[in-house]
Amino acid sequence: MGPDKQNHTIKIEKLQEKVYDYFMTILGIETSCDDTGVALIKDGQAVLNLVSSQIEIHRPYGGVYPMLAKREHEKNLPILLKEVKSFDAVAVTVGPGLEPCLWVGINKAVELAQENNVPLYTVNHLRAHIDIVRWQNPNIELPAIALIVSGGHTQIILVKSWDQLKIIGETRDDAAGECFDKTARILGLDYPGGPAIAAKAKLTTSMKYELPRPMIHQKNLDFSFSGLKTAVLYSFQDKSEDSVIAMAKEIQNSIAEVLAKKTKKAVEQEAANSIIMGGGVTANEKIRQEIRKIGLPVFTAPTELCTDNGLMVAVSAYLSPQKHEIKANGNLRI
Ligand code: KG4
Ligand code: ZN
Repeated sequence: MGPDKQNHTIKIEKLQEKVYDYFMTILGIETSCDDTGVALIKDGQAVLNLVSSQIEIHRPYGGVYPMLAKREHEKNLPILLKEVKSFDAVAVTVGPGLEPCLWVGINKAVELAQENNVPLYTVNHLRAHIDIVRWQNPNIELPAIALIVSGGHTQIILVKSWDQLKIIGETRDDAAGECFDKTARILGLDYPGGPAIAAKAKLTTSMKYELPRPMIHQKNLDFSFSGLKTAVLYSFQDKSEDSVIAMAKEIQNSIAEVLAKKTKKAVEQEAANSIIMGGGVTANEKIRQEIRKIGLPVFTAPTELCTDNGLMVAVSAYLSPQKHEIKANGNLRI
């Protein structure tokens, strides 16, 4: 972190104190991973939500290549921001995520807040995945269990009240999305692996594979998905289309069952009244089906709002204004 970034921190801290209690138009900026997002909400209603996806750029690498992602954010963010005319506050994701990418959004947000003399809100990316669901479903009954599953995270979060969030389970190694992406690569499928595996899993075959359900019987609420990837690597020898379909089904089943079992455990342990799902992986229909079997009301965002976007950032600042340090924090906790 350079000295100029330190200066930004000090100046904006003051701006932030100035206005915490009025909301008009909030500009949301998201650059934590491979989607560049810019959105505007006016008095709590969406008026703009632009996402520039880098999927094609990262496809040859089978996953997100951070320095390439940073360059793309630098290129695309100013293009998206051309659509933004005026705003009364800026909100930006400060973590968790890829730090070089986060800095692109943060530096731009600081610049815009200073130029326009408006407050800056810092947003936790995981909290934003929850807040977008809450924004669309204002009557979620608490306590709730939030299952946040993305390319970088797999977490079970207890939502006791909207300002009392606690991580009660998480992955010890790979995130579920990362597992989809890595196993898809083994199967010869394109990045992003989640949708590619889901599409193959819809097809029929008489072939069958059996993969482990990592940590499913352990009492804790944690996950581990790296062993699943290794199991796929060793058992996927026949590379026929039937074999790809059978393995895709089994990967999806394994991930869905483990996520659902641990979510059910969390629900029982915390006597939860509802389940919230967020993050790119929760777009998966099989996972949604398994979670619905738990029998509680399940709240999700539409697919395009499950994956990263600027709207969730603006909405998070609107619903739960936070005050983190204005610096990229790749491992920011909730
Ligand atoms: O939340 P997100 O857009 O970005 C991160 O914060 O990581 O999630 C991206 C992840 C990728 O790993 C992608 O493979 C996965 O979400 N994904 C899916 C589906 N759509 C996206 N995984 C399973 N099924 C899907 N339909
Ligand atoms: Zn995300």
